[in-house]
Amino acid sequence: MNKPFKTRITDLYGIRLPIIASGLMWLADPVYVAAVARAGLIGFMTAASFPNVEALRAGIRRCRELSEGKPFGVNIMIRISRDGTDRVTPLIDAVIEEGVKFVETAGNNPEAYIRRLKDAGIIVVHKVPGVMRYVKKAESLGADAVIVIGAEAGGHPGVEPVGTMVAAAAAARAVKIPLIVAGGIGTGEQLVAALALGADGIAMGTRFLVSEEIWAHRQYKERLVAAGEADTTLLLQSMRNTQRALKTGHVAMIQQLEQQQPVNNESILPHIMGTVGRKAYETGDVEKAMLSCGQGVVFADKIEPLAAIVDRIEAEARVAIGRLNTLYRPG
Ligand SMILES: Cc1cc2nc3c(=O)[nH]c(=O)nc-3n(C[C@H](O)[C@H](O)[C@H](O)COP(=O)(O)O)c2cc1C
Repeated sequence: MNKPFKTRITDLYGIRLPIIASGLMWLADPVYVAAVARAGLIGFMTAASFPNVEALRAGIRRCRELSEGKPFGVNIMIRISRDGTDRVTPLIDAVIEEGVKFVETAGNNPEAYIRRLKDAGIIVVHKVPGVMRYVKKAESLGADAVIVIGAEAGGHPGVEPVGTMVAAAAAARAVKIPLIVAGGIGTGEQLVAALALGADGIAMGTRFLVSEEIWAHRQYKERLVAAGEADTTLLLQSMRNTQRALKTGHVAMIQQLEQQQPVNNESILPHIMGTVGRKAYETGDVEKAMLSCGQGVVFADKIEPLAAIVDRIEAEARVAIGRLNTLYRPG
């Protein structure tokens, strides 16, 4: 395997390029994550997308078969259930018992779970928004690496979103553990820029949504291909659960509900249920859902195999490095 890049992230995961494909609710399934693995990156299957722990276990086995011995991981969202039930521990038990080597945690503080994962020999990367107190916390909890999410990101950029350019540079100064940055990244030039800012690698979500291995309806992908950098919006700030999603009629309706004073969370909750999004992925009826999407959708210009997207990013990175080498002449 030729290894064009050598960073602490390529070393940590044993991958060709310093790129990880972070968890994608409903979409990061065994087929997609195995395609990521075969392309020389590492991807994380989203545990929350499986209906139960048995299905997750089966998913892990399927991903292992399809990955041809290449590394892959599982994304575990740390959340406190409204009814107080611990839904995270059974997922942790499953990944340990199934021999998963890599876990991405996100959401709430993973302190209560990280020790168990580490004791089982699992490499843990924790994902946080670009606010330095969270970045440092991930390091102090013993995460092997940290993913820092900038404001441009699809999904949860944090309650106080900080642009990727600032978040990356500040995080590189704030921690010693390997640093992965994300948020609006979709090109090889941006990969090189992130490395220049002090990161060891990048994470991407949105850019890969148009890959053929993503099971969602073609109409959804065509909508992403047509979308530009201004076609996403932040919402749910009123619930302190800020998300970046594609601008759709459904999202505009939720934003209107958020304008009402006082805000009535109960009126919003049915519209943001995960099943609404899953249905839109199935039918392609994008207007009827809130679908996480980052500003980097502007780079998602074609529906093609994931490996082709990765090839393009690698070629762009090569050109960007060559260009930088012509710009600086010391002495
Ligand atoms: C459609 C979609 C679904 C996502 N679902 C999850 C999820 O279930 N868990 C998670 O930790 N992050 C989730 N994210 C965030 C991504 O893992 C990643 O952090 C983000 O996409 C990076 O920014 P980018 O979209 O600009 O590449 C999701 C993002 C998108 C676009």
